Amino acid sequence: IFVAYVVTENCINCKYQDCVEECPVDCFHEGENMLVVDPGECIDCAVCEPTCPSDAIISAGGPDFEKWVEFNAKYARIWPGIVRKGVVPPDADAWVNRPGKLKHLSPKPGGSSG
Ligand code: SF4
Ligand code: F3S
Repeated sequence: IFVAYVVTENCINCKYQDCVEECPVDCFHEGENMLVVDPGECIDCAVCEPTCPSDAIISAGGPDFEKWVEFNAKYARIWPGIVRKGVVPPDADAWVNRPGKLKHLSPKPGGSSG
């Protein structure tokens, strides 16, 4: 079975980036309003999962896991890597636990990490 942790739509417009600070292999990539993991680089260490205030990080067995693996792989190819926490959206807390956030995804690359 394929093993990796991946980011779901719960991240969209929250983008707290606490996950980035913990990843030992720097496999997060940054979009304008969310992050993804490169599933091919993730070593399945699990340390990022409990850091997310928006419960956006899932592993095998999580809802729609295969869909999110494909989504993360797709955007990891076109968004830049991020290795430290940058600017958090000022209204991040207002987006926690909102359902159906995928329609708010920005496909643009991010760049707050400089
Ligand atoms: Fe990084 Fe570990 Fe999270 Fe994978 S499980 S993204 S290696 S912190
Ligand atoms: Fe997103 Fe959670 Fe990381 S909101 S940026 S997956 S800490």
